[in-house]
Amino acid sequence: AKITYKHHDGTEDVVEATNGESVMEAAVKNSVAGIDADCGGACACATCHVYVDEAFMDKIGEQQEMERSMLDFAENVQPNSRLSCQITVSDALDGLVVTTPESQH
Ligand code: FES
Repeated sequence: AKITYKHHDGTEDVVEATNGESVMEAAVKNSVAGIDADCGGACACATCHVYVDEAFMDKIGEQQEMERSMLDFAENVQPNSRLSCQITVSDALDGLVVTTPESQH
C-alpha cells in the first residue's frame, strides 16, 4: 500500500509499504524522518506519533487502551493522533496520508 508521510516543513516521503508491517516499520525501513520509534514498536515510547488524515480515521479503527495511555506522553496530541507502530498496513490503507509532528524532527 502506498503511504505518504508529510512533514511540518512541507516536504513529504512516499513509501510502498508491505501488508502486515506497521506504518512505523515502513517509515523506519525507508529512512523517513520524523518517526523515531525509540521502543521499536512496543507501544512504549510515543516517538512514532503521527496525525492521521481525516479520510482514513474510520479505516484505522479505534485506539487501543495501551496506545491511548502512551499518547498521554506525546506532545501536541490531536483527535487524529495515533502511534504509527499500532497501525497495520493493509490494502484498505492504500493512499494513507500521515503527518509527522514537528517535535519528532
Ligand atoms: Fe514506540 Fe510506537 S515505536 S510507541
